Amino acid sequence: MPIPRVLGVLISGRGSNLKAIIGAIADGRLNVRIAVVISNRAGAPGLEHAREAGIEALVLNHLDHLTREAYDMTLVKALRDRGVGLVCLAGFMRLLSPGFVDAFPDRIVNIHPSLLPKYPGLQPQRQALDDGATVSGATVHFVNKDLDAGRIVLQDTVPVRPGDTEHDLADRILEVEHRLYPEAIARVLAAG
Ligand code: GRF
Repeated sequence: MPIPRVLGVLISGRGSNLKAIIGAIADGRLNVRIAVVISNRAGAPGLEHAREAGIEALVLNHLDHLTREAYDMTLVKALRDRGVGLVCLAGFMRLLSPGFVDAFPDRIVNIHPSLLPKYPGLQPQRQALDDGATVSGATVHFVNKDLDAGRIVLQDTVPVRPGDTEHDLADRILEVEHRLYPEAIARVLAAG
């Protein structure tokens, strides 16, 4: 069965990848509709990108829930109620419980600022610099029950330059992310 071309995007902060996805839809690179953007933080600046594009911007605060599982089931219900076919994590700073992953099998993607399996988890740019890497990059991958370990959809490399700060590297990777994420979503939807 083809994946319904309806996205739910989960964010926690800035939302520049969300903005890139919205842009790709607007200029015809990505044939999909975003049904809802959900943030676990009320003040996430990325919510503004959704509102500006006329997309429902929903705040579901994890602190209002007693357990991770309870929160995740609230997310699942909100996504299902809106007919979401593919869940896109875009800077969503929460680990997903197995119950969430089971609710959308092979239907959750994430973007991570490293060439996975290198530098999973927190501060991947810091990890790359500390490792003396000369190349890093960005990866779009399916989400499974293990951290940053699901099947890879697309990756691209980014040079690490001498004297780079974590910030320099993060910015350079982010430019690649903004091109890569819409392309990877299109690929997942085309593969059905
Ligand atoms: C990106 O670097 C992404 O790879 C990581 O979190 C950051 C989110 O940035 N998962 P933004 O909120 O999309 O601007």
